[in-house]
Amino acid sequence: MAVPMTFMNEELDRMKREGLYGSIRTLDGPQGAWVQIDGKRYLNLCSNNYLGLANDPRVRKKAKDLIDKYGVGPGAVRTIAGTMDLHLELEKKLAEFKGAEAAIVVQSGFCGNLAVMPTLAVEGDLIFSDSLNHASIIDACRLSRAKTLRYEHSDMDDLRAVLKENASLPGKKLIITDGVFSMDGDVARLPEIVAVAEEFGAIVAVDDAHGEGVLGRGGRGIVDHFRLHGRVDVEIGTMSKAFGVMGGMVAGSAVLVDYLRQKARPNLFSSALTVPDVAANIAAVEIMEESDELVKKLWDNGNYLKTEMKKHGFDVGSSETPITPVIIGEAQAAKDFSARLFENGVFATAIVFPTVPKGTARIRAMVSAAHSREDLDKGIEVFVKVGKSMGVVK
Ligand SMILES: Cc1ncc(COP(=O)(O)O)c(C=O)c1O
Repeated sequence: MAVPMTFMNEELDRMKREGLYGSIRTLDGPQGAWVQIDGKRYLNLCSNNYLGLANDPRVRKKAKDLIDKYGVGPGAVRTIAGTMDLHLELEKKLAEFKGAEAAIVVQSGFCGNLAVMPTLAVEGDLIFSDSLNHASIIDACRLSRAKTLRYEHSDMDDLRAVLKENASLPGKKLIITDGVFSMDGDVARLPEIVAVAEEFGAIVAVDDAHGEGVLGRGGRGIVDHFRLHGRVDVEIGTMSKAFGVMGGMVAGSAVLVDYLRQKARPNLFSSALTVPDVAANIAAVEIMEESDELVKKLWDNGNYLKTEMKKHGFDVGSSETPITPVIIGEAQAAKDFSARLFENGVFATAIVFPTVPKGTARIRAMVSAAHSREDLDKGIEVFVKVGKSMGVVK
C-alpha cells in the first residue's frame, strides 16, 4: 500500500518539472535599497518597502526602547490576556492618520481581510469582488460563506450589471476591491465604486495594502487620494509594505471597529502583534505624519524608472503608481531574465502564472524612497544589457 504522504513528493516533482517550484533567496542582512545575499551586494528591486522604513534608525530605536519597557510578546489573545496600551496608541494614531473614526490592528494584512469579509458578510449575503483581487481577499470571501460574485477587473459597467441582476436578493451586499492592483500598479476606480454602492445600498471595502504610504496626502491612502472620507465603509491595510514592519489594520467608523473587536476571528483567536512590531509601526506613522518627503521621493523614483524603461523600449504596462511591471511574456523567459539580472547584481523576481495571466510574465520592479538616482541608473543599465542580450529590447 502506498504511504499516504507520498502525494507531496509527487506534487513537488510536478511543480519542478513544470517550472513552478519556487526557490527563495536568503538575505544575510536587512532590507534596503541594496541587500546582501551570500556575502554579495545586490541592488534590490523587489521589495514592498516603499518608503525605506524597514531599517530606518528611528524605527529600530523605538522597537528596542519599547522592548526594554514591555518585553516582547502579548501573552495571549487580547480578549483573554488584555491589551497593551501600546496597541491602543497605535490604533489611535492610525485612525488619525487615515482620517477615520477608529482603527483596529491585527497580525497582518492577510488577517485584515480575514477579519473583515467573514465578519461582515455571512451565509445569505452577497460579496462583489474584482476579478484581480489579492489572494487574501479571495480566501476571506470563501471563509465568509457568503455568495461571491466576481466582476471584470475595474469594469464599472460589469459591477453595476452584477449588482442590478442581484438587487432583489435578500441579505447584505458588500463590494471589495484592492486599492492598488499590485501586479499592474493600476488604481481602483473608487469614486465610481462608491457611487454604484450608494445606488444599490452596498457596503464598500477597500484593501489599501499598496496604497498606504503611497497614495493620498503624505501617504494617507486611497480614500484620502480620492477625498472619499466617510463614504468608504471599510479600509483594510497592511503595515508590511510602506510602514516597513508587519501587521494589518482595519479603519472605519467607531461601530465597525467595535463590531470587529467583538466578532472578528483574528482578534478573538490569534494573539496580538508583538511589542517590537507595534513600536516600530508607531514610529513609522510618526515619520509619515511629520513629513511627506519620503512619499515624494518614492514617486520621483517611480516616475524616473518608468520613463527611462519606456525610453529603452520596455513594455511597462499602464501603471499609475510607483510599481513598474516590465512585461517579458512567457514564464520561462521572465525567469531567465530575472536570473541574468541577478548574475549582474540586480535582485528582481519574475512573476508568472497564476499570479499574472499566461503570456504576461514579468519582472515587477519595485523602487523605494531609499534608492538614489545612481542606484536606479545602475538598475536600468543592467535591465538594458539583459534586455538586449535576450532580444527583449533593441
Ligand atoms: C492587496 C493585498 N492585501 C493583503 C496583502 C497581505 O499583506 P500582509 O503581507 O501584511 O499579510 C497583500 C500583500 O501581498 C496585498 O498585496
